[in-house]
Amino acid sequence: MSSLIILSSSLLYLFFFTTPLAAADNGGAAGTWSLLQPSIGISAMHMQLLPTDHVIIYDRTDFGPSNISLPAGKCRNDPNDYVLKNDCTAHSVEYDVASNSIRPLMVLTDVWCSSGGLMPDGSLVQTGGFNDGDHVVRVFNNSCGSKYCDWEEMQSGLAQRRWYATNHVLPDGRQIIVGGRREFSYEFYPKKSALEKSFRLPFLMQTNDLKIENNLYPFVFFNIDGNLFVFANNRAVLFDYVRNRVVRTYPGVPGGDPRNYPSTGSAVLLPLRVGPGAGAGAEAEVLVCGGAPKGAFVNAISGRFDGALNSCGRIKISDPDPNWIMETMPMGRVMGDMLLLPNGHVLIINGGSNGTAGWEYGRNPIFNPVIYRPDNPVTSRFEVQNPSTVPRMYHSTAILLRDGRILVGGSNPHQYYNFTNVLFPTELSLESFSPSYLDTNSSGLRPTIISPTTQTNIQYNQQIVIRFTVSNPVDPNLISVTLVAPSFNTHSFSMNQRLVVLDGSNSTTKVVGKSTYEVNVTTPPSVNIAPTGYYMLFVVHQEVPSEGIWVRIQ
Ligand SMILES: *[C@@H]1O[C@H](CO)[C@@H](O)[C@H](O)[C@H]1NC(C)=O
Ligand SMILES: *[C@@H]1O[C@H](CO)[C@@H](O)[C@H](O)[C@H]1NC(C)=O
Ligand SMILES: *[C@@H]1O[C@H](CO)[C@@H](O)[C@H](O)[C@H]1NC(C)=O
Ligand SMILES: *[C@@H]1O[C@H](CO)[C@@H](O)[C@H](O)[C@H]1NC(C)=O
Ligand SMILES: *[C@@H]1O[C@H](CO)[C@@H](O)[C@H](O)[C@H]1NC(C)=O
Ligand SMILES: *[C@@H]1O[C@H](CO)[C@@H](O)[C@H](O)[C@H]1NC(C)=O
Ligand SMILES: *[C@@H]1O[C@H](CO)[C@@H](O)[C@H](O)[C@H]1NC(C)=O
Repeated sequence: MSSLIILSSSLLYLFFFTTPLAAADNGGAAGTWSLLQPSIGISAMHMQLLPTDHVIIYDRTDFGPSNISLPAGKCRNDPNDYVLKNDCTAHSVEYDVASNSIRPLMVLTDVWCSSGGLMPDGSLVQTGGFNDGDHVVRVFNNSCGSKYCDWEEMQSGLAQRRWYATNHVLPDGRQIIVGGRREFSYEFYPKKSALEKSFRLPFLMQTNDLKIENNLYPFVFFNIDGNLFVFANNRAVLFDYVRNRVVRTYPGVPGGDPRNYPSTGSAVLLPLRVGPGAGAGAEAEVLVCGGAPKGAFVNAISGRFDGALNSCGRIKISDPDPNWIMETMPMGRVMGDMLLLPNGHVLIINGGSNGTAGWEYGRNPIFNPVIYRPDNPVTSRFEVQNPSTVPRMYHSTAILLRDGRILVGGSNPHQYYNFTNVLFPTELSLESFSPSYLDTNSSGLRPTIISPTTQTNIQYNQQIVIRFTVSNPVDPNLISVTLVAPSFNTHSFSMNQRLVVLDGSNSTTKVVGKSTYEVNVTTPPSVNIAPTGYYMLFVVHQEVPSEGIWVRIQ
């Protein structure tokens, strides 16, 4: 009975929706922008979404006053601050997505160019920075839950100074902190004992171009075999962080141009598929796009702004002997952010078409995001999106929100807050980019999750029943369920970014009521596919995602 209904509804779908879908595929410009806040008082250099749907945003502390005051009576009295030793302005804020409002937060030591990630309990752990902040670990604890949570700082939380490092969450609930300026090592937080120090990682020294570096904020991904993929400069290794051993050396990216800070490109781990039809989670691929060519940083210092790289390299990091497959973006881009959308597409947003990262070294902002569809034929993967009007150059950020929008902020290529007489004034605004799946003409296709409810705990390798409504007829073959980890974004890289397409092979989508459907999926098989912690779960129908719900895997 129910399979008959499915059959007839998919026929209906074929009959009625073929034409508009084809139009959407060829549609060219898509997506809409809106200005959420003309000023949040600080420039959003670092952003992290919490499972409360609040976004923790922070800049640096040592550039003088910001444009937002600390709550009454509070001041930073920091004798080590290089610019302002008594400072009553905030350098971190909490953005509440639902109410589109801002609350100032208090951070004392310098968080400039630092790194972070969510702990399994949903707290943000932030590590390092500059000057008096370079060994500090700070926690924004999610469990305090109230309107009055704030940063807690732990001096000497790190064994080494970490400035421009990359963090990744690990299956045991800790974070690894990799590299940083002139630190060719890694360490963990929290430490297993007070005796635990840092561990050498010579690969970071080998990829360190003299003076220019080109290997800061390395692209680190947790591979499905439990090792870390570490990309720096123009090449990568697979690294066993437990035994401190390189287990695979990947070929260099063809062309040899650098992709990491200050030649800042970006990278994502492409959607992971698990289950019978998908090689049982046997495959993981990384896509690296853009950056600035060799020599661009030195050229920028002398006032020549090289065209950014328009190439992407894609590699199966789980293969024993893989090669890079090169692709070409519609335009070159440096300082772009690559974000996984809930439907498994990749958004490439922000940045410019000339120069490099670093003070005053970027030129020609790119206002158009581009969407990359990893599963399309190679000739039709990229689609240029509608432009914004705000340059988002060095120190700009972008993260995915649970409702499917992208929150975009920051851009400050200056040492201080400079609003006039500069090429790209310091940006204090927040915008959102809504991919075309949020267009009102997609609302008939959009699933709404009924159960489970948000903030549900799930376990590994467990069948879960998902109920949702869709107003148009549903094609059961075009339903998927995805988990997306909320990532920490700074300097064009999203740490801990991960999307898992859940295995639905034991179930077909059934009609269980008027416009109401049920599908059973299997949660990730292991911590290697999805480390413990919070994820956003989306039901996707014909590439249109539902609003997500928060689930916590443990
Ligand atoms: C939705 O509307 C926009 C313009 O408003 C159009 O560009 C797009 O193709 C439409 N999408 C579909 C699926 O009809
Ligand atoms: C920030 O504050 C400064 C000093 O009060 C002011 O000149 C500037 O216009 C403000 N900028 C924004 C974007 O609000
Ligand atoms: C957050 O606070 C809770 C309750 O005090 C504590 O158990 C937990 O360890 C804290 N989380 C972190 C990451 O410090
Ligand atoms: C940007 O790069 C392109 C390609 O190399 C070059 O033609 C153009 O002059 C550059 N623009 C600037 C502002 O330097
Ligand atoms: C930015 O402002 C600071 C202090 O107000 C000033 O010293 C600096 O020269 C300005 N930078 C630029 C690029 O104008
Ligand atoms: C699918 O169902 C079969 C038979 O009921 C069961 O043995 C298997 O474990 C299930 N697979 C998953 C991935 O849940
Ligand atoms: C999902 O699983 C439940 C219980 O395991 C079962 O009763 C239900 O029929 C399944 N639904 C689908 C759509 O397979």
